[in-house]
Amino acid sequence: MTRRPTPPTDPRTAPSGSSGWWRDAVIYQVYVRSFADSNGDGVGDLPGVRERLPHLAALGVDAVWLTPFYASPQADGGYDVADYRAVDPLFGTLDDAVELIDRAHELGIRVIVDVVPNHTSEQHPWFRAALAQGPERTRYHFRPGRGTDGELPPNDWESVFGGPAWTRTTRPDGTPGDWYLHLFAPQQPDLNWDDPAVHAEFDSVLRFWLDRGVDGFRIDVAHGMVKAAGMPDIGAREQAKMIGSQVLPFFDQDGVHTIHRAWRRLLDTYDGERIGVAEAWAPSAERLALYVRPDELHQAFNFQFLTCPWDAAAMRTVIDASLAATGSVGAPTTWVLSNHDVVRHLTRYGGDDHARGLRRARAAALLMLALPGSTYLYQGEELGLPEVSDLPDAVRQDPSFFRSDGQDGLRDGCRVPLPWTPEGPSYGFGDGGSWLPQPEEWKRLSAAAQQGVADSTLELYRKALTVRKELPGLGDGAMRWRPSADGLLDFVRDGFRCTLNAGSAPVELPSPGRLLVASAEVADGPGTGVVLPADTCAWWAI
Ligand code: NOJ
Repeated sequence: MTRRPTPPTDPRTAPSGSSGWWRDAVIYQVYVRSFADSNGDGVGDLPGVRERLPHLAALGVDAVWLTPFYASPQADGGYDVADYRAVDPLFGTLDDAVELIDRAHELGIRVIVDVVPNHTSEQHPWFRAALAQGPERTRYHFRPGRGTDGELPPNDWESVFGGPAWTRTTRPDGTPGDWYLHLFAPQQPDLNWDDPAVHAEFDSVLRFWLDRGVDGFRIDVAHGMVKAAGMPDIGAREQAKMIGSQVLPFFDQDGVHTIHRAWRRLLDTYDGERIGVAEAWAPSAERLALYVRPDELHQAFNFQFLTCPWDAAAMRTVIDASLAATGSVGAPTTWVLSNHDVVRHLTRYGGDDHARGLRRARAAALLMLALPGSTYLYQGEELGLPEVSDLPDAVRQDPSFFRSDGQDGLRDGCRVPLPWTPEGPSYGFGDGGSWLPQPEEWKRLSAAAQQGVADSTLELYRKALTVRKELPGLGDGAMRWRPSADGLLDFVRDGFRCTLNAGSAPVELPSPGRLLVASAEVADGPGTGVVLPADTCAWWAI
């Protein structure tokens, strides 16, 4: 297999000794099943993504991250993989994947794919063999139950999706058997990373995709592969709520770093700086920074930023903590506001008031794109899409919805397929319908409806990404806060100033500089001053 070329790197961003393309890359998350549907079956697919790549090139992103498109029963949107080297027919073929990677590279866009190493699908041949008492059993966590007849789970761990993290098996003779661990849905048995066969298999899977030209991996549940010795009880309920605020015996164990170091060594044997990105929920910025030490992964998602409320002081605290922590290990910080697992930030910031949410979402995008480091965008945020909060239960597919008695079905509403055109059965998503219904008002938000409209959200993102590329002071590098009033975030970088008014009243700024881009109209104030409205962010050349 020949290694495919990756796009040329931009020497402007290069730290000494390496190109470091990823240090300030803008990376666009494509949730494949909801991006574009090429064959009219209502589900997005790889040829659909390929056809829509010009949208991403025009937007100006450096890379795409594709969510899992591997062979899977789709019990958890493809995060239950049955064959890591095959493309699910729902999404296309292996040739489609290779063509997509090649076409993206021709357009100067790098490609990051998901890898799911914490668990397989229950349909993975290893797990089928394990259930049949084969030697593959050691590759998963099987344990006898507690209680007089083993009728109780081996410990008190809860699944992230609700309910116990263990499911009891049935022996081939029909009698109840051991339990197996699944931190997510029962269809996602956790792998046992103490077994060398698991390491060997994932090394081979990584090579398989690297040989097909991918530029990196987003590592699913990168904090989960190692469990505390003895699998101790936690002694508390509602464990999902503890994730990200404390170290649990199944998450953020120190042993995961050994795996990431080995993967880094493997990545470094390839040309073109192939990267690893940790999806890791760690209790603090300091613990998250451990994943991006120089011999580990390149990036980790900054969920502390994503979960921060619309509050200038809180945002400043998170920004400072993030920069300090990653800076201490020489890694860039990443910024992210939305993804396929959380309520879209427009709705988080504005609730049912979409107009307010949109104002804040636009301002937040400018803030994020002005900060030092790399930025992740989630498909549809460039269109100003809100969460779809009123999906009927009958159409929901998120396993967490079913595992939590319907109280927590939050992940379908951010996965509704994109509107591309104001017309058509699924607003240009495809020739058929769409696997989740799109609200009618989305025709107004379609890419075609916003294209060329000066104050549209799509044009705001395009402008911001253009300025970000042109200004040497943006991207990787330093920033410095300016003294500012409550509710304001105001910082400077080389030749550049960014001001966010997250407060509820307009603010006068005397001589802030030459306006580059603003998330809402900035009015003239007295003299050379300007008035920055509430919930607005502006960039200035200084
Ligand atoms: C994180 C993924 O983003 C999410 O969608 C998935 O359900 C879990 N990991 C389990 O794989």
